[in-house]
Amino acid sequence: MATATTPSNLAAVPHLIKEIAQGAGCLESGCHEVRQALAIKARTLLQALETPRETMIKHCWAQPAVFAAILCGNECGLWKLMAKNGDRPQRVKELAATLDVDPVLLRRLLRHMGAMGYLLEVGEDEYKPTSFSLSLSLPIMNGGYPSLITMGGPSFLNLHEYERSRAWKNPTDAKDSPLMHAHKTDLNYFDLAASRGYLEDFNNHMGGYRQGRLPWMAPDFVPVQELLVEGADPSPEAVFMVDVGGGLGHDLLEFHRYHPSVLGKLIVQDLPQVVGSIVPSEENNSLTPLAHNFFEEQPIKGARAYYLHSVLHDWPDDRAAAILHRIKAAMRPCYSKLLLNENVIPRTGAYWETSALDLVMLSLLSARERTERDWYDLVEGRCGLRIVKIWSAGRGWRA
Ligand SMILES: C[S@@+](CC[C@H](N)C(=O)[O-])C[C@H]1O[C@@H](n2cnc3c(N)ncnc32)[C@H](O)[C@@H]1O
Repeated sequence: MATATTPSNLAAVPHLIKEIAQGAGCLESGCHEVRQALAIKARTLLQALETPRETMIKHCWAQPAVFAAILCGNECGLWKLMAKNGDRPQRVKELAATLDVDPVLLRRLLRHMGAMGYLLEVGEDEYKPTSFSLSLSLPIMNGGYPSLITMGGPSFLNLHEYERSRAWKNPTDAKDSPLMHAHKTDLNYFDLAASRGYLEDFNNHMGGYRQGRLPWMAPDFVPVQELLVEGADPSPEAVFMVDVGGGLGHDLLEFHRYHPSVLGKLIVQDLPQVVGSIVPSEENNSLTPLAHNFFEEQPIKGARAYYLHSVLHDWPDDRAAAILHRIKAAMRPCYSKLLLNENVIPRTGAYWETSALDLVMLSLLSARERTERDWYDLVEGRCGLRIVKIWSAGRGWRA
């Protein structure tokens, strides 16, 4: 069939190549948005060159096979070993002997990673790492694969079956998610990840996805001094900020790094198994971990700020409102502030990371990323709080 085998848009190729070459000249500015725009252009070029058949084979064979190879590499220690060996050619036979993995199996995994460009093939059964494969040795980079591909994969891959059996309604019930349907469980994503031993990977992934994003507390972004520090109770027993659903406390640690002189406690709240895994260290001694279920009464009353980062997007409106009501009841009027760090999906031109995350939320938790209108409906309409300001970091990332 010509439709399947004709390159998608060869006519556009020369112009795209010219635009990419011109854009490359601007890369020295170091501007992320220039680079990201160029990456999207390069993606358009690739799609123009590919035939629909090649794109389909990439989706159905090549990408799932990459996930399998990455997950195996995580599990057997391949990525860590290759990173330890450094930027030199590495033979399958030697790697296999050190890892105690069948060299035939390892050859097949590495061959596909090489064919897909994630390793550099330098000879027969010999590969050099790329910056991507080196990054897979880091828990903040490799944690997403088991926690989202192994755990989340069945939710995506069976979404059509879930939807077929639910008359194609947008999922809004946290107790009947595509994940629950796919895994045949009534546990939600977080409880299932804990029961299957993937919570640590998920928390590491939380440390990874934030990389490269401008922190809201950085200079010239949210005015921390004026908004929060001025007028805050200076006594050391006072609570300055509670990070509700704060995971391992990455945000509060970052806050302390930017604002070390701020007085008052920094409390990170999360499920017992999450805060219980925070190992006390010199780095995190500015934090007070506290196990707390955010659907129950908020035990910390009258803090200067209650902060939620990527928490409300995990829940459909009724559950998100329940979380906010618990916080609202603990806030001191005219003193406490609520800080939400979430995506705001624009009406058109959503960035691919945000549209993808929206479907992750749909599939894993019957939840969603929200538009500005949705945020007003939730925060003001359902919860009677007032949105004072939305700060934007571009690409729909807002604080
Ligand atoms: C998407 S993560 C965000 C973590 C952190 N705020 C960040 O941005 O890195 C959502 C967090 O909510 C926590 N969580 C889920 N259910 C919870 C509950 N009922 N009470 C408290 N925390 C919960 C999870 O353990 C997880 O750490």
